[in-house]
Amino acid sequence: MSKDNRILVTGAGGFIGGHLVKAFREDGFHIRAVDIKPFSEWYQLFVDVENLTLDLRNLDACREVTEKIAMVYNLAADMGGMGFIELNKGACMLSVLINTHLLIAAKEAGVGRFFFSSSACVYNGDKQTDSNVTALKEEDAYPALSEDGYGWEKLFSERMSRHFREDYGLVTRTARYHNVYGPHGTYKGGREKAPAAICRKVIEAKLSGRREIEIWGDGKQTRSFMYITDCVKGSRMLMESDFADPLNIGSSELVSINQLVDIVEEIAGIKLERRYNVSAPKGVNGRNSDNTLTRKVLGWEPSTSLRDGMELTYRWIYDQITANASLFSKWSWDGRTAPHADRSQVFSLDKSTHAQLEEYQL
Ligand code: NAD
Ligand code: GDD
Repeated sequence: MSKDNRILVTGAGGFIGGHLVKAFREDGFHIRAVDIKPFSEWYQLFVDVENLTLDLRNLDACREVTEKIAMVYNLAADMGGMGFIELNKGACMLSVLINTHLLIAAKEAGVGRFFFSSSACVYNGDKQTDSNVTALKEEDAYPALSEDGYGWEKLFSERMSRHFREDYGLVTRTARYHNVYGPHGTYKGGREKAPAAICRKVIEAKLSGRREIEIWGDGKQTRSFMYITDCVKGSRMLMESDFADPLNIGSSELVSINQLVDIVEEIAGIKLERRYNVSAPKGVNGRNSDNTLTRKVLGWEPSTSLRDGMELTYRWIYDQITANASLFSKWSWDGRTAPHADRSQVFSLDKSTHAQLEEYQL
C-alpha cells in the first residue's frame, strides 16, 4: 500500500491499537488514531499523528473517521480480562455498535481493507474443559458455544464482517487473538489480564514486603500468551494477505497459571505464598492456539518466548508502579509531556490536547 494512503486505527488509546499506531508511524504511514478516552489516558500518544477522541458506537462518528481512509484497523472494544468480561456481558455486547457502524461507514466510504480484532473467546467452550487442552483450530468455533457476552459479540461481528465482504465487496480480514500481553497495556483497575495482573501482584508483594499472592482459580488452568510485537506483526501480515476467513493469531506456548507465576517470581527474584481464590472469575480450564493454518497462510507464527516477553512486561509495570506513586504530586505542565502517555514519544501537543490535559490535571 502506498504510504500516502491513510490508515485508521480505532482503539488507538488502548494497548494493541497504541502499538499498531507506533509501528505504522515508524514505517512512515499517515495515520488517523481514534479512541473514546481522553488523550491523557492513552497508553501511547504520538503528536505527529491525527488523534481524535470520539465514541465509535455512533454512526456519525464512524462516518467522520472513515473519510479518505484506505485501511481500517478496528481495535476499539469495551473489553478486558476475565474479571471484566465475566461481570460486564452487556457492556461487552454493546461493542457490536462499534463494529456494525464502522463496517457500514467503511462500506459507504469505499475503504480498501477492514481488519477486525476478534478473540479466542469465540471458540466452543466444550472444547476447553480440560487444562490439558487440545489446541484450538479455526473450525472449532462451530457449532457455536462462545464465551458468554464478549465471545458471542465477537463471533457475531466476525460473521458480519464476512457478509459485508461477500455481499458488498468490502475486503475484510479477521484475527482471532489469543491473550496478548506486553508493555503499555492495562495492569490495574479490573480490566487487566493474567500476565499484567500477576506482574502487578508480585511487584506489590515485593514492594510492600507482604510475601503472598492471590491467584484466581486453582492455578492449574492453562493458557497461551502472545507478546505484543508478535501480535502487531501477525495482524499486519494477515491484513496484507489474501486469506479471508478468521485466523488464529496467538502463541502456542501453553503454560498453567502456576507456571506463569513461577516465571514472574523468577524475574522478580522472590518466592511468594500462594492463596487460591476459587470463586474469582476463571473462564475456561484450558486454551491454546493451533497454528497449523497460520503457518500455512502467513508462513509465520508468534515466536517470542513467554520468559522474554514477561521480563519486558514486568520491567514496564514495575516502572509504572514506582513512578506513578509520585507522578501527580510532582507532575507540572511544561507544555510537552503528559501523564500516562509514553513521554519519550510526546514532543508537542495541539490545542485541544492542552485543554484536556489541563482539565485532567485539575
Ligand atoms: P484495550 O482495552 O487496551 O483497547 C481498546 C480501546 O478501545 C480502549 O482504549 C477503549 O477506550 C477503546 N474504545 C472502547 N469503546 C470505544 C468506543 N465506543 N469508541 C472508541 N473507542 C472505544 O484492549 P486491547 O487489548 O488493545 O484490545 C484491542 C482489540 O483486540 C479489542 O477488540 C479486543 O477485544 C481484541 N482482543 C484483545 C485481546 C488481548 O488479549 N488484549 C485478546 C483478544 C482480542
Ligand atoms: N485477570 C486475572 N487476574 N486473571 C487471573 C488472575 C488475576 O489476578 N489470577 C489468575 N487468573 C486466571 C484467570 O482466572 C483465568 O483463568 C486466567 O488467569 C486467564 O485470565 P485472563 O488473562 O484474565 O483471561 P482469559 O485468558 O481467560 O481470556 C482473555 O483472553 C482472551 C483471548 O484469548 C480475555 O482477555 C479475553 O478478553 C480475550 O479475548
